[in-house]
Amino acid sequence: MKQLELKSLVCECQMDELSQAERQLVTMAIEATSRSYAPYSRFHVGAALQLANGEMFLGCNQENAAFPAGLCAERAAIFAAGAQYPQEPVVCLAIAARGTDGQLTAEPVSPCGTCRQVIIETETRFRHPVRILLYGRNKLYIMDGIRHLMPLSFTEF
Ligand code: THU
Repeated sequence: MKQLELKSLVCECQMDELSQAERQLVTMAIEATSRSYAPYSRFHVGAALQLANGEMFLGCNQENAAFPAGLCAERAAIFAAGAQYPQEPVVCLAIAARGTDGQLTAEPVSPCGTCRQVIIETETRFRHPVRILLYGRNKLYIMDGIRHLMPLSFTEF
């Protein structure tokens, strides 16, 4: 039997190491946390993305008393962008969150499995990797493509 070692590359950095455009996206994701509707979890997630044409979109989590009816911040942003510009690749996506204490999380918050699957579909659809910026007060994680967060993913059938 052969064992495979699957490699992910994640860059750990601080805000001042980001490009100006990346800092702007992270700042927008942080701002989007304040617009989230999360009365049930009180975990407020914000996302901001940039398309290849330079347009930027925000998303934040939208909860519902019927739990599965809610939507994560990342998908809210990706679906809004797809509705407006169905032909434009997503080039970069930033995510930030505020915990139940109202503070931005100290550690980076990573997208849930369903959002990872949607990001994979976005990359496949546009044949373009999505650079992902995960914000935390202590550090940021950056990766070039969702494959670093989701190896052996389901992309086609
Ligand atoms: N949430 C997101 O918005 N994005 C994620 O990737 C993880 C979870 C939201 C869903 C729910 O409203 C709240 O965070 C708590 O799970």
